[in-house]
Amino acid sequence: MATPLKAEEIFAHLAAPEWQITNDFRGKDIISVEQLSREAIWKVLSTANDLETMPFEKRHRALESKAVAVLFYQPSTRTYTSFTRAAQALGADVLGIHGMMQYSSAYKGETLADTVRSMDARGFDSFVLRHFDVDSALIAARSIEIPIINAGSGKLEHPTQALLDVRTIIKETHNHNPQELHIVFVGDLKYGRTVHSLSKLMAILGAPEMSFVSPDVLRMPRNLIAGLNERGVETHETSSLNEVLEKADVLYITRVQREWFSTEEAYEEARSGQQITPAVMERIKPEAVLMHPLPRVDEITAEVDSDPRAAYFRQVGHGLWVRMALLKLVLGG
Ligand code: NCD
Repeated sequence: MATPLKAEEIFAHLAAPEWQITNDFRGKDIISVEQLSREAIWKVLSTANDLETMPFEKRHRALESKAVAVLFYQPSTRTYTSFTRAAQALGADVLGIHGMMQYSSAYKGETLADTVRSMDARGFDSFVLRHFDVDSALIAARSIEIPIINAGSGKLEHPTQALLDVRTIIKETHNHNPQELHIVFVGDLKYGRTVHSLSKLMAILGAPEMSFVSPDVLRMPRNLIAGLNERGVETHETSSLNEVLEKADVLYITRVQREWFSTEEAYEEARSGQQITPAVMERIKPEAVLMHPLPRVDEITAEVDSDPRAAYFRQVGHGLWVRMALLKLVLGG
């Protein structure tokens, strides 16, 4: 089996002008937030707003002649249903395969490149892909002509989640500019691809300051912190939520990603004990926003759900509009 490309190699590749997106998304692969300019991000957000207010009949014709396949090699509830519903809502023909590892020829040992090449012969206009390898979206994009949208590539990136997170942040903070906000990331910052993509996206949008709270074994990868600093972000890393809690405008918490640990003991040891409870909520700003990409395990207790600042279920809803926007922009409908 080929060794997956390293993160640096993937990002070096995506830095080339043909992968970068300033304004025109048509036919482009969406692999990483590093491809997006500030203008491109705002374009996705404004397209999502336009779609939300568009009459149903008009929206439903946007991709009526297009066909999209949603191919998932890793478990998912929200992202899978959000992409399939988004494509259907725009009138596209949608084929979803959830469980590619069990039910496609991947089970027999077929490579991702061969699978997408074969699927490409079926007349699709785009593939949405979730896969456990960091370089999966890039490999798929290089294997075929039609655009690939990355719905999660290993520990590396989850660009569409980051875009819906930014939409949530803007709406929940009543249109505050990301340049005015202090976001505090809590939890599994080492393996959590949502944190990796969102921190970079916020940096592109000009966020001045971010805090990262985790036990030592789950700290942000060094290259990511260096990249944020290069973009002018002031970063604080700590293992104590108490140190930064009161400064948070947005508190973004993630589960410890059990699937990436080599042993159950290592997972148990890494579980931070960092838990959001009503007592913690009492100490955050009255207008702060609590987010989580979901699924949660036990890092937010159920009593917190009724707190008006708990935005995680509303966050899921934003995914639909953002994914519709991306599909529409990429497929040129
Ligand atoms: C996340 C993922 O798959 O990276 N889920 C999601 O897409 N909303 C977060 C996670 O699995 O913890």
